[in-house]
Amino acid sequence: RRHASRQKFAQDFSQCLYDFVIQLLPTTEELAVKEDVRKLLERLIRTIELDSRLLSFGSTANGFSLRNSDMDLCCLIDSEERLSATDLVNMLGDLLERETKFHVKPLPHARIPIVKLSLDPAPGLPFGIACDIGFENRLALENTRLLMCYAMIDPARVRTMVLFLKVWSKRRKINSPYKGTLSSYGYVLLVIYFLVHVKSPPVLPNLQQVPPLRPISKEDTHLNGHNIWFFDDIELLRQRWKSSNTESVAELLIDFFKYYSRDFNYSSGVASIRAGLLKKDSKGWVSEAEKGSPRERNRLCIEDPFETDFNVARCVTRDGLYTIRGEFMRASRILSSRPERAIVALAQLCE
Ligand code: GTP
Ligand code: MG
Repeated sequence: RRHASRQKFAQDFSQCLYDFVIQLLPTTEELAVKEDVRKLLERLIRTIELDSRLLSFGSTANGFSLRNSDMDLCCLIDSEERLSATDLVNMLGDLLERETKFHVKPLPHARIPIVKLSLDPAPGLPFGIACDIGFENRLALENTRLLMCYAMIDPARVRTMVLFLKVWSKRRKINSPYKGTLSSYGYVLLVIYFLVHVKSPPVLPNLQQVPPLRPISKEDTHLNGHNIWFFDDIELLRQRWKSSNTESVAELLIDFFKYYSRDFNYSSGVASIRAGLLKKDSKGWVSEAEKGSPRERNRLCIEDPFETDFNVARCVTRDGLYTIRGEFMRASRILSSRPERAIVALAQLCE
């Protein structure tokens, strides 16, 4: 009886998750408006740098976008002699201020110089638009493509889990790197890590470890000293890779919360989608708080897939991690108590 009722709950809850996520996807109209904005901005930037392209990355490009999410744009300049990012940010800021209706905020001296843009809500655009333009951020374009490939291998389960976690983490207010919690990018990596390295049998293959079809030279695989190679022939992979894991999206999500509330070793572990579970020690990522420094880093460790010496969760503070883990436990508790109706569980989760 208990087994049957658990099965029934998982089935209902899976259906609820699909229905919930579908209504949060961006409309085709929204996507079209964003593409128009990208083209317009690209045209303007070309009046400053003729050989430039403006590409979208982040959620608008990786298949994990929710309605009204920000646009992340990256400007690539193909000519040899180019302006510095700081100069570009200043010039572009002036130009956009003169020529467009965007609110413009150039940040030329940020760690990664960007121009921030926003449009106020209007009748055809009920939530306005928020957009960041960065320069030469080629690694971000590549990690966007990696995430997109993972999403495409098993869209029904992977995209549903990721999109749900993004909404959940925003509603539970644990998606603000500036306030000591984790970025969306960080949550996506936690999901992929779980599906590749924790689940057995795995739901996803490790795209950075699938053997290449033909030998590749080092120039083709490295960017700024980072190995950016991964298996990206998704058509082929979809023919060859068939996960023997048949768990439903609800079962996976329940297990995800359980794993991150009790099993993951936060004090010594590093989640790496490239290499599996690593040790903080071996990466030299010991907590600076332990060394008596007031700065908090390395409380939670998630290795970037390409920039392997970079901790994606570096902004997570002690309190932030405490809150995040508390939320994982809360979610786990709600789901294991299996309320009468799955829809009630979902509403409670995202309260
Ligand atoms: P929403 O904006 O919440 O919809 O999510 P998103 O999917 O756009 O994620 P987020 O804004 O966190 O990140 C956007 C993109 O920026 C990611 O897909 C990465 O390419 C890049 N990015 C974000 N944070 C980091 C980081 O800490 N390190 C690196 N290397 N790239 C990052
Ligand atoms: Mg974004």
